[in-house]
Amino acid sequence: MSESSRPIFSEFELLGRTLRNRLAVAPMSRVSATDDGLATNRMMRYYREFADGGFGIVITEGTYTDENASQGYDRQPGIANQRQANSWAPVASAIAGAGSLAIMQLMHAGALSQRQSRTGRVIAPSSVQPRGEMMPEYGGSGPYRLPMAMTASDLAQVREGFVAAASRAKRAGFHGVEIHAANGYLLDQFITEYTNLRDDEYGGCPSARIRYTAEIVAAVRKSVPVDFVIGVRISEAKVNDFNYRWPGGAAEGEMIFTALAEAGANYIHMAGEGRGFRESISGKQEPLTALARQVTGLPVIANGGLHDPDLADAAIQGGHADLIALGRAALATPDWPLRIANGDPVVPFDHEMIFPNASIENTSAWFDGYSSFPHPAGKRISVGYPLSNSHVVQ
Ligand SMILES: Cc1cc2nc3c(=O)[nH]c(=O)nc-3n(C[C@H](O)[C@H](O)[C@H](O)COP(=O)(O)O)c2cc1C
Repeated sequence: MSESSRPIFSEFELLGRTLRNRLAVAPMSRVSATDDGLATNRMMRYYREFADGGFGIVITEGTYTDENASQGYDRQPGIANQRQANSWAPVASAIAGAGSLAIMQLMHAGALSQRQSRTGRVIAPSSVQPRGEMMPEYGGSGPYRLPMAMTASDLAQVREGFVAAASRAKRAGFHGVEIHAANGYLLDQFITEYTNLRDDEYGGCPSARIRYTAEIVAAVRKSVPVDFVIGVRISEAKVNDFNYRWPGGAAEGEMIFTALAEAGANYIHMAGEGRGFRESISGKQEPLTALARQVTGLPVIANGGLHDPDLADAAIQGGHADLIALGRAALATPDWPLRIANGDPVVPFDHEMIFPNASIENTSAWFDGYSSFPHPAGKRISVGYPLSNSHVVQ
């Protein structure tokens, strides 16, 4: 079998569009926007590199939805106003122009906001001190702040923020949005038992805890054309709690997936935060991605340690998922699909690429020192991060 005939390179139909392969770039916060949340030229070049590198879908980093309390990090991009939307138009056009599906991830950080909001408020379903500490990669340190429980007007305002952000993303040229309900951020705080202590219709049993996310999906669905893709990202684990698993197990998963499908989601993306997909498929239970496929019939994206092409193929072939999202592997090798298809070597991810922070500049600096790393001779690595667009690797 030639490398290019791997299952991950087969086409896939998503909402009437043919994707050239099953590979997506996972959303990755790069804290590289301007102080007022505008996407930059450098970000455009960074995103275009993935599309040029052959990914069927490029999902942007988590982008904040409103100007009140949604922003998580300094230098995080937003789509909360028209200027920010305008700054994204060249990014969407670069991705689409290179033949990839352009999806913007919409994110409200909730209690995991690491910065002082314009309103000075940190909001969450309930006033519960988040576990863990702020992440230095995104410019934070020390404990998270104690959030305020969202009022009825907060609920309406945040929901409206997602709706308006999705419409702006549409007008900026994106093919769709991915609603971030994973990894411990606002919507996941609603879904998670210990961060949601509400006694209204949004708290209590799992079907109440998924209600707010489902309402947002339905509200966005109503406000965009039918061919505009709406994905939802879900996870059990969180950036600040790798060990959380849904207390109700697979039954809780079924409830969540069904509610999202009924609300009008077009795909489900299971984030692999805290565990790899190999662990998922080798466990006693069927992977949650397979469960999501079965109960919803929707396309499902698997993620988490899927940079081994054989494992990624197995996830597709075994019916565990329809699409594969790569995070760190894509960050280290933006043209991963082309390289794998051609049998060329890839650059292994190194944590130093996102340390001391996850900015594009920092990764660029890492690549500046890369030629000293052992690597097959004579290979030119195009990484997109530095202004010079190629590196000769010794
Ligand atoms: C630098 C970095 C930034 C990330 N930012 C986001 C984000 O904005 N939204 C999100 O849903 N996940 C984010 N993630 C998680 C990734 O999308 C992905 O789930 C995780 O890296 C596991 O996949 P991998 O094994 O392919 O890297 C981020 C990961 C990294 C490494």
